[in-house]
Amino acid sequence: MENIRNFCIIAHIDHGKSTLADRMLQQTNTITDREMQNQVLDDMDLEREKGITIKSHAIQMEYDFEGTPYQFNLIDTPGHVDFSYEVSRAIASCEGALLVVDATQGIQAQTISNLYLAVNHDLDIIPIINKIDMDAAMVDDVKDQIVDLLGCKRDEIICVSARTGFGVDLVLESIITRIKPPSGDSNAPLQALVFDSVFNSFRGIIAYFRVFNGTLKSGDKVKFFNTGKTYYAEEIGYMKMKLMPKQEIKAGEVGYIISGMKNAVDVKVGDTLTNFENPCKTSIAGFEDVKPMVFAGIYPVDNDAYEDLRASMEKLQLNDASLTFEPESSLALGFGFRCGFLGLLHMEIVQERLFREFNMDVITTVPNVSFKVYTTKKEIIDVHNPSGLPAATLIDYIDEPIIQAQVITKSEYLGQVMKLCIDKRGILKSQIFLTSDRVELTFTMPLSDIVIDFYDKLKSISRGYASFDYFLNGYQRADLVKLDILLNGEMVDALSSLIHRDYAYNFGRKMCEKLQELIPRQQFDIAIQAAIGAKIIARETVKAVRKDVTAKCYGGDISRKRKLLEKQKKGKRRMRQVGNVEVPQEAFLAILKLD
Ligand code: GTP
Repeated sequence: MENIRNFCIIAHIDHGKSTLADRMLQQTNTITDREMQNQVLDDMDLEREKGITIKSHAIQMEYDFEGTPYQFNLIDTPGHVDFSYEVSRAIASCEGALLVVDATQGIQAQTISNLYLAVNHDLDIIPIINKIDMDAAMVDDVKDQIVDLLGCKRDEIICVSARTGFGVDLVLESIITRIKPPSGDSNAPLQALVFDSVFNSFRGIIAYFRVFNGTLKSGDKVKFFNTGKTYYAEEIGYMKMKLMPKQEIKAGEVGYIISGMKNAVDVKVGDTLTNFENPCKTSIAGFEDVKPMVFAGIYPVDNDAYEDLRASMEKLQLNDASLTFEPESSLALGFGFRCGFLGLLHMEIVQERLFREFNMDVITTVPNVSFKVYTTKKEIIDVHNPSGLPAATLIDYIDEPIIQAQVITKSEYLGQVMKLCIDKRGILKSQIFLTSDRVELTFTMPLSDIVIDFYDKLKSISRGYASFDYFLNGYQRADLVKLDILLNGEMVDALSSLIHRDYAYNFGRKMCEKLQELIPRQQFDIAIQAAIGAKIIARETVKAVRKDVTAKCYGGDISRKRKLLEKQKKGKRRMRQVGNVEVPQEAFLAILKLD
């Protein structure tokens, strides 16, 4: 065990985690230059495009130092708030962390929250400044920030360029000298932490784990502590560039298990893997059943595609256990599903994968959070959809989820960021200057105000110089009303929202204005109204078009006419007929675009 080092890399998005990992894989000859494609740890196309490591993976490297061979296990962590539970389990599997900070950007919110997790788990932290080859690198300033944050010495900070490879040998060496080896008893009952799992269409679920105590042997009967499910360890091994089967995996090591698990929900990240005959007494602390935070309806554009959509969602769920869905119907949109996501990015990814991997054209409704509705009959109902709200007379009160949010920004944007947070019903808890021109703000605010458009607004008012992170901090009583939208007198359930009473009038007015922009003119006037109960609070009108688009083609060139109709048909793809009004997909997301 003396020669094993288990570590992860903590970095804000784009600070160079994947690039640094690539260089380490090259310098330890885990991967040859020929095999090297950029960013091997991000193996989904979508991940590469979005530049975000969505699923954590692990890889083993061998490194000789002063004549002694070492086994390194690098556990990759996703860098986005939606996946913070996975990050916490990856961190819990390590003894050390490389803290990578971009020399041109300095410390950002995500860096700090993940660093706190690592410090709480007692990890040895190696601070690294990356991208020192860039002209805009502010190495001295960033060193100051790191010293302030960690209380370390300046000369403990390693300066590297993951792009050129400069400094990477020092990183490898310090992993040995500065990160403690694992401890544990290989003869004790098996106690291993599952920190990730992936779905493979040939082999089923491959679960990744870190052994804390005991030894897992190939063929053993194993049990997952929290789900109680039992399996046989059909194949176990190390993760290198490929899976390397082994006969046993001992305390301190990281490995994979394949055991006939078919579905991502069969194995839960954070669960403890133990031996069925000789189980450990306690599970590893920190297990949570992650719950979706954001909900939205997903409907096929073409009503006939409902069954195809169901099949696609089921397939997606095989490798994404955090996606939940249940059938839902909407008067406006027909049959579809109400889906639960970890956050907005997760929602975007699911929508994109449905389109790319399954060729499903879908309409997504406005995201909302899960409210707890306390009824006059003393029941508590989780409401995931505004149209699922019980009748007003049955509602005693409603609680909404509250988050604690942390924003780091430059001082020049402080005023605007503060105003944005307060407009979103935020309450300022603390304001700390990290350096003379960087400030950290902590707010509590309702999650529902974040899911709509907070992040985009934050980025635009701060010209990108603000980072943001949050965690759920309980539920709170909220004075909410259901705001409905009517088109030519017909209520469009998919456009309803639950909103704070004080904001409802302004919001209703803006929704009507936005919808007026988004709904194309048709052969007749379209009245757009916002209503709370029976009371209309705002109204706009889309005026009728006067001319028939094909009129000018009559008697003319027939192919030209066909082209025009073809073009119109295409334009209609993501349209829905609501009563006699055609509503484009954008309109269902109008809330996201309000100023
Ligand atoms: P996520 O996976 O999104 O968390 O990003 P990451 O932290 O893994 O960052 P990644 O390695 O993808 O690097 C982000 C960008 O910075 C890429 O375009 C890299 O090529 C670039 N980059 C990384 N390291 C360096 C460096 O040392 N110097 C320069 N100039 N660019 C770098």
